[in-house]
Amino acid sequence: MRHSTLSKKDRINFLKSVPQPDTMAEEIHSGLARDNKTLPPKYFYDKQGSELFDRITDLDEYYLTRTEIGLLEQHIAEIADLLGKNSLLIELGSGSSIKIRFLLEAIRPKAYVPVDISYAHLLAAAQRLANDYPWLTINPVCIDYSKLWSIPISDTGRRNAFFPGSSIGNFSPSAALDLLKKVHSVVGERGGLLIGVDLKKDAERLEAAYNDAAGITAAFNLNILRHINRRLDADFDLDNFTHRALYNEPAGRVEMHLSSKTPHQVQVQGERYDFKRGETIHTENSYKYTVEEFHHLAALANFTPLKTWTDPLSLFSLHYLVAH
Ligand code: AVJ
Repeated sequence: MRHSTLSKKDRINFLKSVPQPDTMAEEIHSGLARDNKTLPPKYFYDKQGSELFDRITDLDEYYLTRTEIGLLEQHIAEIADLLGKNSLLIELGSGSSIKIRFLLEAIRPKAYVPVDISYAHLLAAAQRLANDYPWLTINPVCIDYSKLWSIPISDTGRRNAFFPGSSIGNFSPSAALDLLKKVHSVVGERGGLLIGVDLKKDAERLEAAYNDAAGITAAFNLNILRHINRRLDADFDLDNFTHRALYNEPAGRVEMHLSSKTPHQVQVQGERYDFKRGETIHTENSYKYTVEEFHHLAALANFTPLKTWTDPLSLFSLHYLVAH
């Protein structure tokens, strides 16, 4: 039990990542300058946005989180057998998730490598875990996980990645394929990936999940504008926009938009953007898959699906894939 004699601080060692230039301004301007205005969904997650997202995960209509946790809980013994003990466990977009706790307790990894774009979140979550699990070694990496090609750690053991929550749904199928290829290079041959993927289903249930009665998703969507105002010296008036979410069935995705209520102008760092009445900013895509479609995508990235778990209503899927 050598680890238990180390202090909390000594068990949290940030791994060096290549410093990332701050591309927020560039990404926001290029999205707003398009004919069909867009904003990258990763900018939902400032402090307030992350809190709103946590409230979304508790909503009756938002079945995703509770269904995925149910699958993890119900199948944890089998999942632990597949991942094996003593592997390196890498979590993509670790946030403040409680899901990782089931896994940590069940597989007792050699080290836990949370990967997240937010340094503050990484540190806070690592400190909580170090506190609760005295045996755990934590090696956080502060980077946008879609830019992650390798983990700067020299170990020879088995690696498993964990990518819960259907966050893969934020990527178009071709970008999702690129991401799976990156994960493949990170875990290496015979490495594993445990991934949660939301399933295609009736439009009514999907649209309800993104149009909750309490308006939390609307507040979450609008908050991206407040985030931009604060970070980029912009003057978005949130009262000028309304939240819209719809299932684009042919494209297989739920889309979120912010629709302009009136013709108006917005300044961002001195740049002017014109909005017509009813014009929208497309803020998020949330792609849904059938189990077969997802297996096909995984195969294209040289992953073999070893096991897939779904709930009785086929709302959500959890997959264990192995790299070949
Ligand atoms: C975190 C991307 C999986 O798409 O369901 C929740 C984000 N957006 N409600 C999703 C989200 C609106 C969520 N993901």
